[in-house]
Amino acid sequence: MKPKVFLTRAIPESAISRLQEHTRLTMNTNDRVLSKEELIDGVAGQDGLLCLLTDKIDGAVMDASPYLKIIADYAVGFNNIDIEAATSRGIPVSNTPGVLTETTADMAFALMLAAARRVAEADRYIRSGKWKGWGPMQFLGTDISRASLGIIGMGRIGQAVARRAVGFGMKIYYWNRTRLSEEEESRMGVAYGALEEIFETCDFISLHVAYNEETHHLVNTENLSRMKSTAFLVNTSRGSVIDEKALVEALRQKRLAGAGLDVFENEPEVASGLLSMDQVVLAPHLGSATLATRTRMAMIAIENLLAVLSGKHAPNIVNRAGLEARGINLP
Ligand code: GLV
Ligand code: GLV
Repeated sequence: MKPKVFLTRAIPESAISRLQEHTRLTMNTNDRVLSKEELIDGVAGQDGLLCLLTDKIDGAVMDASPYLKIIADYAVGFNNIDIEAATSRGIPVSNTPGVLTETTADMAFALMLAAARRVAEADRYIRSGKWKGWGPMQFLGTDISRASLGIIGMGRIGQAVARRAVGFGMKIYYWNRTRLSEEEESRMGVAYGALEEIFETCDFISLHVAYNEETHHLVNTENLSRMKSTAFLVNTSRGSVIDEKALVEALRQKRLAGAGLDVFENEPEVASGLLSMDQVVLAPHLGSATLATRTRMAMIAIENLLAVLSGKHAPNIVNRAGLEARGINLP
């Protein structure tokens, strides 16, 4: 008998076909986020759950099915899932690291370039019909080439951003909870810096940490006030890594030059101050949004899901250590 699986929203079609082939699939066919009640109804009686970063999966949702054996998240960031609740119930949780690394690093650069070269603002200007021809002082921006870049969080994505920055001739500094080896630093052409130092000295700062209690509001009033008034902040990680209210205030006071934001504290809400600021480029959480990458993410999520359901080794279980500590040893 095929396992019963619930999918919370449509993902690329090839992935849905694969699921239909191997599971008895129930899915939300409306292109919207389910309410908590709908999630609970959907999970009831299921063996597996494939969910998205917009689904809040807490203990109550997990308890909707006594058979639930795997929660496969369609994202690298899994802060939408109560990991402790899953671990205490013996449920493995998987994510989709690796496949979205380059796509997300591209987005960080897209936002960095767009903010520094005022692309979105200039686009609005042309569309408004105001352009009367080339001007020597029109839309003067900031060079990325040879500027200094501070990468906060040097995991896969941070390192992919560093590789791109080398091509732009940037001076690259990074901060990470654990420092890389000297060999890695010299191979990547990056220098380690204290967080304060990076905020004080870098022309561009790009955030690539995972969101958790430690990184909540890592960019706060204090760090923002350290930034150079010519510097730009880019965020493709999670909205709550930045204190969004403090950012609006710092931008108002021109403590920094601008920002490129792909993620927000209360998505889909965007702090109203940001909407009226021309020096801010906004994107609706598009970091991994290419068809190729979203398809790969789906395939990895399904691989993890099907592996656990058939008792095989799943490559991306994020709470493996926690489960082992409770005496649950996964293959
Ligand atoms: C996207 O934000 C992800 O975590 O995959
Ligand atoms: C994500 O894949 C990261 O480790 O940065």
